Amino acid sequence: MTAQTATPRTPVTVLGLGNLGQALADAFLAQGHPTTVWNRSAHKADGPVSRGATLAATVAEAVTASELVVVTVLDYDTVGELLRPAAGALAGRTLVNLTTGTPGAARDLGAWVADRRAAYVDGAVYAVPQTIGTAGAFVLYSGDEAAYRQHRPALDLIGEGVFVGTAPDLSSVYDTALLSGMYGMFSGFFQAVALAGTEGIEAAAVTSQLVRWLTAAAEALPAFAEEIDRGEYDTTTSNLEINAVGLRNILATTEAQGLSTDLLAPLQRLFDDQVDSGHAASSLSRAIESLRAGR
Ligand SMILES: NC(=O)c1ccc[n+]([C@@H]2O[C@H](COP(=O)([O-])OP(=O)(O)OC[C@H]3O[C@@H](n4cnc5c(N)ncnc54)[C@H](OP(=O)(O)O)[C@@H]3O)[C@@H](O)[C@H]2O)c1
Repeated sequence: MTAQTATPRTPVTVLGLGNLGQALADAFLAQGHPTTVWNRSAHKADGPVSRGATLAATVAEAVTASELVVVTVLDYDTVGELLRPAAGALAGRTLVNLTTGTPGAARDLGAWVADRRAAYVDGAVYAVPQTIGTAGAFVLYSGDEAAYRQHRPALDLIGEGVFVGTAPDLSSVYDTALLSGMYGMFSGFFQAVALAGTEGIEAAAVTSQLVRWLTAAAEALPAFAEEIDRGEYDTTTSNLEINAVGLRNILATTEAQGLSTDLLAPLQRLFDDQVDSGHAASSLSRAIESLRAGR
């Protein structure tokens, strides 16, 4: 009889046990990774420790415990403050930073970590703590590709990993873009709910229809993106003039109902600029040219 031996799991350290860090530690623990944790407020380690994690007394001790170190705290300044006293322990390890920040901060941290002879991988998480490890969760990574590939089995426990490039700031650039899209959607949501509310329609009633419509409308985005990448804006469907007129009607109604037009008026300026520049018959996607020109 041949004895079956399980493949040893990579030891992982999780620095930061806020909402996200707790979920990450649990995802690693659930799959048998020896998991070391550290958090400023040590009591937040009670849950992970009860499920098998080891609590480190210091950041340096936590970094020393594992070849793979995942950090998720408030911001990049905090990451820097935590790691500076532990700098000597970083050599030969991989730091995966899942904290949200700016591309500039990711570049600076990536260079600092590389100077410590450690590998740096920056990541942007598209999940909430409750959906970590589920099919809908994904993470965009950039930075040291070899280190990312080496640790992919563990990192994929967070959500599907997508490596977007070797520049350390690239995942943060993507993140800024994706979150811009999300906040644009929220501004449309607030506008829709406020407008419907002026006629006594409850938020839930308009939202159930809005989600259907936004889901269908989102399907147009890849075709718009192809037009933008080609720089060719011929269309037989949704041209700029029809959208400029449509949005003007919406703004007039919004004003008539006593609401602010601040969220949508800038979009009208882009459409009008394109129409005034002779592109009334072009695709709606051509509005990006006015944005790029800073108009
Ligand atoms: N939650 C999500 O769904 C989600 C999704 C994607 C990305 N993110 C990003 O992940 C990061 C963490 O988010 P979170 O939801 O886990 O936040 P959170 O629950 O507010 O936790 C914040 C963490 O940062 C630590 N912290 C704050 N200031 C500190 C300091 N001066 N020194 C040491 N530690 C400090 C906190 O320690 P204490 O416990 O001691 O306060 C805690 O561990 C953020 O950048 C967030 O944008 C979160």
